[in-house]
Amino acid sequence: MVKDPYQLSCLTMNKTHYLKTVLVGDINVGKTSLAYRFVKEKFKENYTATLAGDGCVVQFNIWDTAGQEKYQSFFSPLYFHGADIAFIVYDVTNSESFARVSHWFDTLQKYCNTAIPVLVANKCDCGSIVEEGIALSFAASKSLQFVHTSAKTGENVED
Ligand code: GTP
Ligand code: MG
Repeated sequence: MVKDPYQLSCLTMNKTHYLKTVLVGDINVGKTSLAYRFVKEKFKENYTATLAGDGCVVQFNIWDTAGQEKYQSFFSPLYFHGADIAFIVYDVTNSESFARVSHWFDTLQKYCNTAIPVLVANKCDCGSIVEEGIALSFAASKSLQFVHTSAKTGENVED
C-alpha cells in the first residue's frame, strides 16, 4: 500500500508495482474519458495501463464507476478496498459537480482512508466556472493533491 505520494517516485527498481486506482465524482465530470485518455492516449467516450519508468514498472488497475445518483447504492467497500490512489473528479464548467466534491471526499473517508486522494479539475480546455483558488483551498484543507486536466487534449493526464 502506498500512503505517501512521494513514495510513488521512489518505487523499488526492477519490480512491477500494481496500483489500484479508483475514480469518483458526479455524472459527466469526465471520469471515463480520463481513464480512456490515460490508457489509450485517445479521447473517447475497468482498464489497466502500464508505465515504465527509471527501472521500474507501474501497472494501474483503474476502477471507474457511474456518477449518477441512482447508482450510489451500488457503492460498496469492495470498490474502494485496497485502493492506492483515489481521484475525486469534478468538471470545471459545472459548479454543482464541485459542490459535491466534499460528499465524494466523505464517501472516500468512510470506505477507504489508505489511498492517496487527488482532486482532479477536469475539462480545463473549457472556460472554468469554478475558481481554481477555491478548489486549491479545499484541496489544501483536506490534504488532497490537486491537478487540473483535460481528457480532451490530454493535458496533465499522465502526470
Ligand atoms: P458518468 O459515467 O455518467 O458518471 O460520467 P463520466 O464522469 O464518466 O463522464 P464521461 O467521461 O462520460 O464524459 C462526459 C462528457 O464530457 C462526454 O461528452 C465527454 O466527451 C465530455 N468530456 C469529458 N472530459 C472532457 C474534457 O476534458 N474536456 C471536454 N471539453 N469534454 C470532456
Ligand atoms: Mg463514466
